[in-house]
Amino acid sequence: MLAIEADALRRTYTSRTGWLKPRRTETEAVRGVTFEVAPGELFGLLGPNGAGKTTTIKMLNTLLLPTSGTARVFGHDVARDPVAVRRRIGYVFGGDRGLYDRLSALDNLRYFAELYGVEARDQKRRIAELLDLVGLVGREKESVEGYSRGMRQRLHIARGLLHRPDVLFLDEPSIGVDPVAARDLRRTVADLAAAGTTVLLTTHYMAEADELCGRIAVIAGGRICALGTPESLKSRVRGRDVLEIEAYGVDEERLDRVRRLPGVRGVSAEDRGALQVVTVQTGRGSAELHGPVLAALDGLRIGRVTSREPSLEDAYITIVEEAAGAADPSVEPAEAEVSADTEKPAEAEELAV
Ligand SMILES: Nc1ncnc2c1ncn2[C@@H]1O[C@H](COP(=O)(O)OP(=O)(O)OP(=O)(O)O)[C@@H](O)[C@H]1O
Ligand SMILES: [Mg+2]
Repeated sequence: MLAIEADALRRTYTSRTGWLKPRRTETEAVRGVTFEVAPGELFGLLGPNGAGKTTTIKMLNTLLLPTSGTARVFGHDVARDPVAVRRRIGYVFGGDRGLYDRLSALDNLRYFAELYGVEARDQKRRIAELLDLVGLVGREKESVEGYSRGMRQRLHIARGLLHRPDVLFLDEPSIGVDPVAARDLRRTVADLAAAGTTVLLTTHYMAEADELCGRIAVIAGGRICALGTPESLKSRVRGRDVLEIEAYGVDEERLDRVRRLPGVRGVSAEDRGALQVVTVQTGRGSAELHGPVLAALDGLRIGRVTSREPSLEDAYITIVEEAAGAADPSVEPAEAEVSADTEKPAEAEELAV
């Protein structure tokens, strides 16, 4: 039996805006999402802000009813049998809410164990196990008020696991967590999956997704636009090299010049301290583009120039940009070139997996 089955899930939010003349606005947050997750799988849901990830998770964990479509967790329909679903799932949303600050970690866990119906004789052992799993042993009597972000996140995970759920939904668990704590958190999540828990994870950290997830669905504008293993997603941009150039004072005009160079598939710039890193995806080996790219950036102070294999982040950016291009009819010629070497449209890839 599958752990999670989402079949053509849709969710439209209706909200009222305005006071004198209230108007109903509809947001199609999720527009037909279909995927399956096998038991024990660690499945990632990636996508830009507002893509519909949290909405999808909320439908799967019974916090929101689908507008249409169906979803099942271990065979239980989320709309028709929410109680059975809730018994088998735990969820953790990133951020600060959901814990009692004045209470110690131990008391928080005791409280939630009671709430989730963990049997009294199991509670003590279960709480001790979880404190150990998330590395909070020795700190459990301190009030949560004084906990750091990472400690809170780990306590959240312990809370989500109290009733031994078969499926754990983790919505941005590492948000605001420092790199060392994030590494511990990843280890915890990997251990859970290794012990048989099915995990559905959202994250904006591509390296985290790459390291943890067996398969990933990229969602944009409420639709899945790619689905597969991290390797298969990366293979979409294979054959393209990535050129990274450190430069000072990068401006849009120069970036556009780089974008217009033949053989350039994608250009982005990111601030890193005082300088910017310009990432250029090339359609072939990057060596022949070295010169023209530097010429297009002429006049800037240039730092290190490196060439590397494409990462999951490069693949992700390409996939999301292609999806945005496909959704925007005004963008034509340049995008057509971008998608030319991916052979299959995104939908076909999803079906093929
Ligand atoms: N309660 C709500 N009422 C109205 N619109 C909503 C509500 N919740 C979400 N939306 C809208 O639905 C869309 C999807 O939001 P969702 O929170 O699912 O995105 P997300 O992929 O989780 O984004 P993020 O990465 O920022 O967490 C967005 O356009 C958002 O503004
Ligand atoms: Mg979200």
